[in-house]
Amino acid sequence: MRIACIGGGPAGLYFAISMKLRDPSHEIEVFERNAPGVTFGWGVVFSDQTVENITRNDPVSARTITDELAHWDDIDVHIRGETITSGGHGFIGIGRKRMLEILQDRARELGVTLTFEAECDPADPKWRDYDLVIASDGLNSRFRNATPEAFGVDVDVRKNKFVWLGINKAFEAFTFAFEETEHGWIWAHAYRFAPDFSTFIVECSEEVWRAIGFDAMSQEESIAKCEQLFAKYLDGHKLESNAAHLRGSAAWLNFPRVKCVRWSTGNVILLGDAAHTAHFSIGSGTKLALEDAIKLAEVLNRDGLSLEAAMDEYVAERNLEVLKLQNSARNSTEWFETLDRYLHFEPLQFAYSLLTRSQRISHENLRLRDREWLEGVERWFWKRATDGKSNKTAPPMFAPLKLREMTVENRITVSPMAMYSAVDGVPNDFHFVHLGERALGGAGLVFTEMTCVSPEGRISPGCTGLWNDEQVAAWKRIVDFVHINSKAKLCLQLGHSGAKGSTKLGWEGNDLPLDDGNWPVMSASDLAWSPVNQVPRAMTRADMDDVRDQFVAATRMAIDCGFDMVELHAAHGYLLSSFITPLQNRRTDEYGGSLENRLRYPLEVFAAMRAAWPSDRPMSVRISATDWAGEDGVTPDEAVEIGEAFAREGADLIDVSAGQTWAEQQPVYGRMFQTPFSDRIRNEGRLATMAVGNIYEPDHANSILAAGRADLVALARPHLVDPMWTLRAAAQLDYRDIHIPPQYLNGMSQLARNLKREAEMAAALRV
Ligand SMILES: Cc1cc2nc3c(=O)[nH]c(=O)nc-3n(C[C@H](O)[C@H](O)[C@H](O)COP(=O)(O)OP(=O)(O)OC[C@H]3O[C@@H](n4cnc5c(N)ncnc54)[C@H](O)[C@@H]3O)c2cc1C
Ligand SMILES: Cc1cc2nc3c(=O)[nH]c(=O)nc-3n(C[C@H](O)[C@H](O)[C@H](O)COP(=O)(O)O)c2cc1C
Repeated sequence: MRIACIGGGPAGLYFAISMKLRDPSHEIEVFERNAPGVTFGWGVVFSDQTVENITRNDPVSARTITDELAHWDDIDVHIRGETITSGGHGFIGIGRKRMLEILQDRARELGVTLTFEAECDPADPKWRDYDLVIASDGLNSRFRNATPEAFGVDVDVRKNKFVWLGINKAFEAFTFAFEETEHGWIWAHAYRFAPDFSTFIVECSEEVWRAIGFDAMSQEESIAKCEQLFAKYLDGHKLESNAAHLRGSAAWLNFPRVKCVRWSTGNVILLGDAAHTAHFSIGSGTKLALEDAIKLAEVLNRDGLSLEAAMDEYVAERNLEVLKLQNSARNSTEWFETLDRYLHFEPLQFAYSLLTRSQRISHENLRLRDREWLEGVERWFWKRATDGKSNKTAPPMFAPLKLREMTVENRITVSPMAMYSAVDGVPNDFHFVHLGERALGGAGLVFTEMTCVSPEGRISPGCTGLWNDEQVAAWKRIVDFVHINSKAKLCLQLGHSGAKGSTKLGWEGNDLPLDDGNWPVMSASDLAWSPVNQVPRAMTRADMDDVRDQFVAATRMAIDCGFDMVELHAAHGYLLSSFITPLQNRRTDEYGGSLENRLRYPLEVFAAMRAAWPSDRPMSVRISATDWAGEDGVTPDEAVEIGEAFAREGADLIDVSAGQTWAEQQPVYGRMFQTPFSDRIRNEGRLATMAVGNIYEPDHANSILAAGRADLVALARPHLVDPMWTLRAAAQLDYRDIHIPPQYLNGMSQLARNLKREAEMAAALRV
């Protein structure tokens, strides 16, 4: 094949090499606009995995690269005069310039033609003469931008400003240096890539950048200012920029996140940064470029594969990898963009939060990297959780939490789950066993399902309720069992279904109206939940009084039942949520319109319940922190205000769920996918929160808690199949101090022994 590679960056060069290695008869030309040796940036970081991949692909260039790699293990986080050092991170890096020299030499050796100082124009007809044109022309790719619609390009220009500098000094650790100026915070990411040279990236928010005056400075002045701000880290060395040699390159940039729906059109194929970017803070751009190149060369040389099939396989496989990395990159980018949220943390927790920001590194990963450091974090967590009384080194999930006078033994919660198994709202033996069993399973806090304050407030005929004495007696039996036989605290979730009421049991069809026996429903406005649901009555003030009083009556009955805590369900599109979300609330009175108005009634209900509930017992509220509807619905920003408003009325905990507030929602689903909302509410609003949503491993829980992203962690579905989730986690993590029902002691010690033996065997096999 006759192939042109536009751009002599890592992607173009490595693709040329990989093609020639597979079939020397390919004619490959690489065109680079800059002269050899002129490049932006300084060092690039690799992972061991990338080194393995390039070694398998081309041992020759890999050997030269690995011979020159700089290695380092520690990360230093400097903040507020403290340095937090954690080890075992195992980075490797090389100068970009040196890497490109190695790749250029190797490409020439294999017969690739390299042409420098050749600016390529996508409109030039000569590109039609090539079988393939590889657009490896970087993130501002002219070849991609010539027909953006053909590739489905999506560029998201990120908020922060950064400048990529170098310094003739070896930083012994990967260094994050955070400095407070009179205008706000600015920070540097610095890492060594040669014996005496390091990359030094300076980053700050646009506001701080303007306030410092960088917008009006020349490149030299900017660098001088950075030298002054970071003087204590530079040991008198100068910061240097090489952006000056580059065409069209400014000193300060905003990072563009690039995504493409399609990676080829006609004879043009996108490769590397032209197709996608990650973010400099997770340093994976070069890795992606090299791995793209390997994969593309492999599919293009596979016998019997048409060009179309080869492209399909290239895109399918690479896109998945890219999406995973872009997900981590987004988390990391956002962490730095919302740094203000974490600046009140103590330095140790701040460093932990920084290290786990992308969610690729978890609590147990950190233990493997640096056990001693991680144990220091655990001790710190326990000390804080116990007002300095405990010096324990143990996973954060087992630390107690005090809310008013209630102390939960550990941070794991059984999330509320409707069981659709009650008759006339009365919990029965099913609920007794279901809740009792989960309480025996070790969770610190167990929630009841949404228990409805009136027969009409039920979602389905199978929902539990609390409006009569029979229900009080049935709940009391359950509460007593839990209190006598476990250490778990029991929280009653109270709710009213609103427009989502009068529907079938969960497993008979989601939100579908009953075949017969439907009861009239009401909501904030007369909007049906979906075309098949009935149109609710828009609540009158008299209805609002009635429902508020029903919530208060149920709260009083909860005292008789002996519950430890009560939660108001104001999420998921049910009655109170229908007031909060603009998607369901079309009222024109003082209960509709602004967020303040939409919150008025839910807050009134909450305040009335709070007044009825004993002041030594805590209350929480469940909210949907986003409607997954962009600016048309509740936004995560507003969720902070919502949390704060309930806290002002006496909520001790915000239970942060999301969505289910309109029938057409498109949630962005994934591991721990709602935790960022909890993080935001907790750290912007300085409120206690509970995170929920696809959290299923003890490691998730510990990472969330230690990073200060929530105070409690709730699991719903994992508890459906494993009531003993918390006890199992204790056995797995070898934590002995948890309350184990005496009847189950033998089982626990056997499980702990077996798990330990398995872990030892696995470790021995790894060695
Ligand atoms: C601040 C910062 C730090 C980074 N740190 C790391 C890191 O630590 N580790 C890491 O792996 N990645 C890092 N990256 C990302 C990395 O630089 C890129 O992801 C990687 O270089 C992508 O390779 P590429 O070949 O696709 O693109 P590039 O390296 O951008 O190469 C494209 C080449 O095409 C040339 N070109 C462009 N247009 C034309 C044209 N019309 N005609 C001719 N030539 C053209 C350019 O001059 C350039 O040489 C970082 C990026 C930034 C911005
Ligand atoms: C069967 C089932 C019933 C649920 N019922 C309720 C409920 O009554 N009240 C509530 O607030 N959330 C309810 N939820 C939502 C869960 O509490 C939880 O927020 C959600 O399932 C996400 O957590 P998970 O990923 O751990 O399952 C229910 C979830 C399930 C699976």
